[in-house]
Amino acid sequence: MPYSRAVNKEKEEFQAPQIDGLVDTSFLAEELRREYRKSHEPVEVEFRKLVNWVRLGDQLTHQIHQYPAKLLPHIAHFFLHASTFRSEGGVVLDPFCGSGTVALESSIANRQAYVSDANPMALLITKVKTTPYDADQLVLEAVAIVKRAKRYRLAPSIGIVNADLWYSNPRKQQLEILLRAVRDVEDKSAQDFFLICFSTVARRLSAADPSISVPVRLKTKESFSQAINLKIVAHLKWISDADYLEEFSNVTLANIDRVLRANAVNPNRKSATVVGEDARLLMEPKGSERLKSASIPMVLTSPPYGSAQKYVRSTSLALNWLGLAGPQELSELEAKSIGREHVAQKRNALLCSLPANYESFLSQVKKVNPRREKISRQYLSDLSVAMSEMIRVAKSGGHIILIVGNNEVCGIPLTTDQFITDNMRSAGVDIDMHLIDKIKSRGLMTKRNTTASVISRESILVFKKR
Ligand SMILES: C[S@@+](CC[C@H](N)C(=O)[O-])C[C@H]1O[C@@H](n2cnc3c(N)ncnc32)[C@H](O)[C@@H]1O
Repeated sequence: MPYSRAVNKEKEEFQAPQIDGLVDTSFLAEELRREYRKSHEPVEVEFRKLVNWVRLGDQLTHQIHQYPAKLLPHIAHFFLHASTFRSEGGVVLDPFCGSGTVALESSIANRQAYVSDANPMALLITKVKTTPYDADQLVLEAVAIVKRAKRYRLAPSIGIVNADLWYSNPRKQQLEILLRAVRDVEDKSAQDFFLICFSTVARRLSAADPSISVPVRLKTKESFSQAINLKIVAHLKWISDADYLEEFSNVTLANIDRVLRANAVNPNRKSATVVGEDARLLMEPKGSERLKSASIPMVLTSPPYGSAQKYVRSTSLALNWLGLAGPQELSELEAKSIGREHVAQKRNALLCSLPANYESFLSQVKKVNPRREKISRQYLSDLSVAMSEMIRVAKSGGHIILIVGNNEVCGIPLTTDQFITDNMRSAGVDIDMHLIDKIKSRGLMTKRNTTASVISRESILVFKKR
């Protein structure tokens, strides 16, 4: 019988202990750890089934804004609700927070989330996602925004990369007027909420294909079936006819509804605290000091994949519209991202030496594609530095939990999970448990280039710092 089914059967016959009125998942974690210790081989689990009381789909504020490669909330929930991994009221650090899945689940579980991300859009989404807004205030502000937008005739022009590809001139001007009306919201935190709503509208009303994370112009093709081409034509018509203020109201109401759902579960949750923009250099909240060593009881994070997701390109429209990065600043932002798709301009000073088996992997890649070798070397090196930083800030006895996917570079397997495990071991941090879940839910996992393969399973690596 597959392991998760056996555990589920056991669960049915057993009254699970609870914390905060929710199932304490420690008994499942202990079972899995025992299973792992038998052979030290990864244990296959299906988190969706393991914590099947966590519902799928549009839950809490998880879907407040799109973001590539979101983590399955069940995984975060599982570790945050196991008393063995929990120190009451403790901080949970996600140094690669993305859209804030871990941060939201942490705040719902009454824990303070510390987050960092190289992409400012990720930090904005995470902030908004975790904030327990007053829904009535949001409704009043939304009405005022729409009124102002109807009144305004002019607004500052916003620089958008390849704007003509995505918007007609009148549409772009409407969106600029709407943005001006949003920027007039005095309360900064409420303004952030509406910026998130605005960003969704700006993407929806663009001619970018809604089924692809990076902006790609939607157009009919001879190679498509007639049915698909008809759908594309209908969608393009909708984009040109849609009433932008009606769309803004719809998106805003749906997001207020999400806030209400999260408030119903935990109205006292704390917003995430930003601890920097680089997982390799974590900072004290609002401070200029490095984040204190040995201060974090739990790190729970999903690092970027090697040559996989284009986080900056996926959010480029949002970054431009919200002024988080102008069209000229996107490549600079990408240069700061781990897992970037291009070779660093200058030879990066932070390149560190790698274990022999990875040197052998890199030399195989080099034979096929020297450029990819450089990209992969940079990725592994950056990941090593980020891991050292996680180890530095973790408390003794604290856990570091990483969710990673393996992939292939030029047809050669890149075993990121093994790389992380080896790295941790050489830093004196032993693996406590290795689980494997099949990916079905990761948002937007597409094959991005001919030299990197699709990631189909992910490893959940649990380390304990001595
Ligand atoms: C796999 S995603 C995280 C997804 C997240 N768990 C979620 O549920 O949305 C990896 C994230 O790492 C971020 N990232 C890349 N380089 C980084 C760096 N140097 N420091 C911090 N974050 C970085 C990317 O911007 C991306 O948001």
